Amino acid sequence: TTVDLVADDYELGGHSDFMRKEMAEQAEAIARALAGRLDERFATAHLGGLGLDPMALRAIKRVKFLGCGSAYYAGQMGATLVEELARIPADAEPASEFRYRNPVVDPDTLYVAISQSGETLDTLAAVQELRRKGGRVIGAVNVVGSAIARECGSGVFLHAGPEVSVASTKALTNMTVSFAMLGLLLGRVRDLSAASGQRIVAGLRALPERVARIVAEDAEIERIAKRFADARHMFFLGRVRGWPVAREGAQKLKEISYVHAEAYQAAELKHGPLALIDAEMPSVVIVPDDELLTKNIGTIEQIRARGGPVIAVTNADLPDGLADEVIRVPRGEPELDPILLTIPLQLLAYHTAKALGRDIDKPRNLAKSVTVE
Ligand code: G6P
Repeated sequence: TTVDLVADDYELGGHSDFMRKEMAEQAEAIARALAGRLDERFATAHLGGLGLDPMALRAIKRVKFLGCGSAYYAGQMGATLVEELARIPADAEPASEFRYRNPVVDPDTLYVAISQSGETLDTLAAVQELRRKGGRVIGAVNVVGSAIARECGSGVFLHAGPEVSVASTKALTNMTVSFAMLGLLLGRVRDLSAASGQRIVAGLRALPERVARIVAEDAEIERIAKRFADARHMFFLGRVRGWPVAREGAQKLKEISYVHAEAYQAAELKHGPLALIDAEMPSVVIVPDDELLTKNIGTIEQIRARGGPVIAVTNADLPDGLADEVIRVPRGEPELDPILLTIPLQLLAYHTAKALGRDIDKPRNLAKSVTVE
């Protein structure tokens, strides 16, 4: 069995569905997650719920993120953020895989269990396995008092507010925002300079306004979604910072529009999937304005040379005519790009699902919270 929230429990507030409402709420949700946690003076973050003093923070040698579905992809974004900001190795794994492979539990690793509901069975079981083996595990959970929050005993609450739509938007965004703060905190007890820390603090403070702008100005995304709504398959491509973004974008499209979407690391395309490219196979390419910009431009050229349509999602100034469609997001601090680049992919999936007449909030076969195997 699965747990379904009763949609009528919460006001739609004039929105046509909860996904739309929850996307619109992201700016205020981020502001809540940041409230009282950013420290301009020492250019760091305060995450009191972790219960870790600076010596304990310094003793952490690795970070491993565990979750299911979108929470797992948020974990992958978190791993990138922690590695970049704190320069300690970090990775993410689906909680279901972790719990069943008799994991080697490392005493110097900080494990982070990620869950909107706090009730996902596989994530809870991963936490229990960790605790049984003496691992240090914290929660990144939205619902206060939930099973995972209680089992972890410490962590960071997401403060996204109630999320009804099966497709996670504001909770996922607040997961990545929280991991940016975790990376900042871990970085600032190590070698992240005060100047870099200040840059990240300012970037985080600017996020609500930037996210609000993307959500409010989505007419272009709606047009693009309608143009490609008849595609049966789509690629989502990215490298490094853009790779978990691509995975989450593909997930969103699959779950609410039922269009087959496959995420691939951009450079792996030429090792097989390039054979699938033709006029019927559009690719969404994630193009952050970072040191890999020219590589991503190369990827777009390779796809278009084979007749594949390209939608670029970017905060860079791309050459005219490079892609068939360009979805632009505001520029921010490069480390935080995954957070901003994820937002238009929610809207792309949303408008595709709308164009196809899907049930946005309750996609077939899916539940908001999966409390069984
Ligand atoms: C279900 C939902 C997904 C969600 C996942 C994890 O599969 O359909 O949208 O990402 O569970 O849920 P959680 O509550 O643990 O974040």
